[in-house]
Amino acid sequence: MESNTQEEISVEDEAVDKSSFKTCNQIAFYRRQKHLCPGKSLYRALLDTVELSDSSVKFQIINEECKVPLLVEIYEIEGSIFRLKVNEVAPLKPRYQVPDVLIKEPVSLRLTISQKDAGKLVLSCSSEDQQLHITANPFQMQLVSKSEIVLSMNTNGLLYFEHLQHLPQIRESTLQKRADGSADSSEENQEDLGLWEEKFGSFLDIKASGPSSVGLDFSLHGYEHVYGIPQHAETLLLKNTSDNDVYRLYNLDVFGYKIHSKMGIYGSVPLLLAHKPDRTIGVFWLNSSETLVEIATKAAAEADLSRTPELPKQRVLPQTDVRWMSEGGIIDTFILMGPRSFDTFKQYAELTGTQSLPPLFSLGYHQCRWNYEDENDVKEVDAGFDKYSIPYDVIWLDIEHTDGKRYFTWDKKKFCSPVRMQKALMKKKRKLVVIVDPHIKVDPQYAIYTQAEGKGYFVKDRTGKDFKGLCWPGLSSYLDFTNPSVREWYADQFAFKNYKDSSEILFVWNDMNEPSVFRGVELTMQKDAVHHGSWEHREVHNLYGFYQQMASAEGLIRRSGELERPFVLTRSFFAGSQKYGAVWTGDNRADWSYLKISIPMLLTLSMVGISFCGADVGGFIGNPSPELLVRWYQAGALQPFFRGHANMQTKRREPWLFGKENTQIIREAIKERYSLLPKLYTVFYLLPFHRPVWVEFPKELNTFGIEDEYMLGNALLVYPVTEPKATTVDVFLPGSQEIWYDFRRFRRLEGQGTLKIPVTLNSIPVIQRGGTIIPLKTSVGKSTEWMTDVPYELHVALDYKETATGELYLDDGHSFQYLHKKQFLLRKFTFQECVFSSRCADEKGQFHTRCVVEQVLILGMKRQPSSVMARIHDGKDKAVVFTYDAKSSVLTLKKLSLNISIDWEIEIK
Ligand code: NOJ
Repeated sequence: MESNTQEEISVEDEAVDKSSFKTCNQIAFYRRQKHLCPGKSLYRALLDTVELSDSSVKFQIINEECKVPLLVEIYEIEGSIFRLKVNEVAPLKPRYQVPDVLIKEPVSLRLTISQKDAGKLVLSCSSEDQQLHITANPFQMQLVSKSEIVLSMNTNGLLYFEHLQHLPQIRESTLQKRADGSADSSEENQEDLGLWEEKFGSFLDIKASGPSSVGLDFSLHGYEHVYGIPQHAETLLLKNTSDNDVYRLYNLDVFGYKIHSKMGIYGSVPLLLAHKPDRTIGVFWLNSSETLVEIATKAAAEADLSRTPELPKQRVLPQTDVRWMSEGGIIDTFILMGPRSFDTFKQYAELTGTQSLPPLFSLGYHQCRWNYEDENDVKEVDAGFDKYSIPYDVIWLDIEHTDGKRYFTWDKKKFCSPVRMQKALMKKKRKLVVIVDPHIKVDPQYAIYTQAEGKGYFVKDRTGKDFKGLCWPGLSSYLDFTNPSVREWYADQFAFKNYKDSSEILFVWNDMNEPSVFRGVELTMQKDAVHHGSWEHREVHNLYGFYQQMASAEGLIRRSGELERPFVLTRSFFAGSQKYGAVWTGDNRADWSYLKISIPMLLTLSMVGISFCGADVGGFIGNPSPELLVRWYQAGALQPFFRGHANMQTKRREPWLFGKENTQIIREAIKERYSLLPKLYTVFYLLPFHRPVWVEFPKELNTFGIEDEYMLGNALLVYPVTEPKATTVDVFLPGSQEIWYDFRRFRRLEGQGTLKIPVTLNSIPVIQRGGTIIPLKTSVGKSTEWMTDVPYELHVALDYKETATGELYLDDGHSFQYLHKKQFLLRKFTFQECVFSSRCADEKGQFHTRCVVEQVLILGMKRQPSSVMARIHDGKDKAVVFTYDAKSSVLTLKKLSLNISIDWEIEIK
């Protein structure tokens, strides 16, 4: 008999109640840390303990009150990164240190001591212009670059470190009394501090190690623009926090999450970026327990020197103070010194890895809904795309495709022949994605359950029994993905022999992996649940989804004999998740405000390394108006991961269900994405895929807060329309020296700064930056795979100097040969002095293709040429057919038939 069936557990009932989630004041370690007020730190550095080795500098600091010594380790890491670790010198038991997120042990450089006395230590770095200044009393650290203080730590005295303690006798007896119901109220009051146990509603969290929280403050000197620390449904620029309203990093399943809220939702990346015109820096706080971040920015000001009027007015530099607080673990933090934003991105990627190169199909359009009911439904939806001539690559199956939410199985009534269904899709060169959640139905007849149970692969509760909670299948246990053996075993479940009726076109969607536990505390797992290595769930909570996606991606790679790139979408994530696939922003709503917020949410993810991200097109909850749906398709088509998805209760919304005109507009948006695939794939190779405007215009203050438009690669400025009935939009065109062209009409846009651009429902503004070259395909196919040999067209947009450059990355689109066998092409296109050339930009890569460049458009060409000649190296010159439109200044070179993989040039006379 099924216990707790779907009917009993309606997502609306379970997830929408805001009181299910804690406010900051309901978080005990926050209340405790808030007792520590800014001021002189209690910590003093014992500089006579300094030890210098080839890789680090270590010394002790001591808390003047409790006298517990901590060990400070400082590393300079290759590439302008500093690492600071603080742990207890002799903890009662090891404290959790996040494994598996750093891709390797970072290579340290030797620091040298350039000054040392009882009160101060100055460390010089390998790059001469950087130093670390450490003061002993109170303990503070400053990072100095070219005599300018970039960042300082513990300036506000908020270094906080709860050392591990034995369970006090009194607590032991209270716990006992609580167990037999005889605890009195004075004992209960003690619990306000939540040291050994913490209550939230009817939930009691019993802390095996007692209080163990850590915290530290950073002052970022000269910075008033800070970004990052997703995931929040918030603005791009981080806001100042106030007591009880701080950024929370705690992965939670929040159905229809509130907008403009700092509460934690599905994923967390504890990386904060700060930008000023001459430098971008990053602070990476490597801690996987619940984390809270306070931000206080003081803007630049004129100092009030009114009492001394004779002094010249002084400018007070802006500053941002950031306070990190985590429930457990140690302090392990990395300072990324930039100086350019791209350096900072690279430094972070050196630590946590780069976005894995997606298989090309996954850059196409994905069609999802909860649920495509059965094989016939899949067949009809698939056919609909052909009937309405809309390209798409992937159809998705949500939880209802399984046998009673037993993942890795099929509901054989609805999907009686999954193999046939997949073969039909394969024939159309399309793929299937199925959902595979982390909870496992407690069912002795279900092989996945019995195996995992037998091997002890589930997370345990604090008494040592398998943790059990409710989710879609009813009573479930949760795989302990932190255990490498569990990940191995799980990866094997994707093998064709184990996953019955799966094929090589089946890819994976990991959902509910915060993990979501219906009726659990904050809809997730109890923090006192126990993982591999006896670590409490509180230590690893934010890593749970990261590990599931890691294991799933590994499974798909293994299934293919290590040949094929995987595709795994995850809802929950952590720093480093970019290595394993894509991320989406969960259960948004079919409302204009959610379309609007998706832009900063996705840009933030992109800035912290998760380039492959998207939001449910149309909005998951509710029914979008046709206008909203159209606008969402137009926005989504130019965002990294592009999937239409809808909740169970919503009306059907395949792209052709909203009348001829809307179908046509959606078709155009999707087709434009497909024609841009060469560009999209190239920016996935070069990264980041899309970026805030300031990243491309780092000196332009006006751009620092822009979040309604963004740059796709370095060449396209995109402005999604997010207001109903819009007739004009205000687009900001940065750069006084820039020329901008309408991407579709090729005309130069007149004016600078904010332009009022008229819009109709037909399209959203996309603008090409002068000086760039964009590769496109001349026509689109039914899916990405149909387009392999379709010729290229290059759009060359000239800048003031009448020059332009651009790249094209190309490989087989699905295997690892680009990595292992260097089977790829990276081409560089240049237009200079009226010569357009195509050259190899990476000699290491080689790839054979018959594909040709058919057409080149040169925008901003001021004169009609007398002749145009193409020259293939070692070949003959060939006259090129061209047309010139004087009105729009566009020169079109036609019928070129120049192979994309070889060098050639075109001379315009
Ligand atoms: C929650 C996910 O966020 C949503 O996308 C999915 O459709 C449902 N779970 C059902 O699996």
